[in-house]
Amino acid sequence: MKTPISLTHTEQPHHEAGTPTNMLRHEHEVILRALALLERMGQGLEGGRPVDRKALGWLRDFFGTFADKCHHGKEEQHLFPAMERHGVPREGGPLGVMLQEHEEGRARVRAMGHDDDRQVAEAIRGYTTLLRAHIDKENEVLFPLAEELPVPASTSGSSPSWPSSKQADPVRAASLLWRISPARPGGAFVFARSRLP
Ligand SMILES: [Fe+2]
Repeated sequence: MKTPISLTHTEQPHHEAGTPTNMLRHEHEVILRALALLERMGQGLEGGRPVDRKALGWLRDFFGTFADKCHHGKEEQHLFPAMERHGVPREGGPLGVMLQEHEEGRARVRAMGHDDDRQVAEAIRGYTTLLRAHIDKENEVLFPLAEELPVPASTSGSSPSWPSSKQADPVRAASLLWRISPARPGGAFVFARSRLP
């Protein structure tokens, strides 16, 4: 008899109520918000408008830490191995595709650090397209598959643990995103560098 998938964590912040896949879906929402900001920055570059490199660096850091290290880290270290233990193949299967897309995303984030605006814009376009499609596949295919397996409704237990650093907190990440959002009064510095003091 198969043992239930256990994706437990040692502490339960208020936002982590629910199943592991629900937590990951919530993190996807935050990542999609950041992608919208990044996409606007890329469109600015493509249109020949100046982009605040500091703000771009901040977004690169967001995708490198919250989206990759923390979110993809949970998937790679906990969800995917748990699914594999329940018979979902890695090689030639959905998990292998997801892992390959994580790697492609890392390469695109690295490319965003290039000095040449055109190459940065190309990397941003590739990354936003890749990650949106990737999130859709996880939300619509992979997570429903995981939810059909004996996934626990509870997140309590002993091990393994989710990353619990501040960087892994989607509420904090969303709040930081809001600070640079052009929708926030006075918060458009990312896309309007020329108006900065
Ligand atoms: Fe994901």
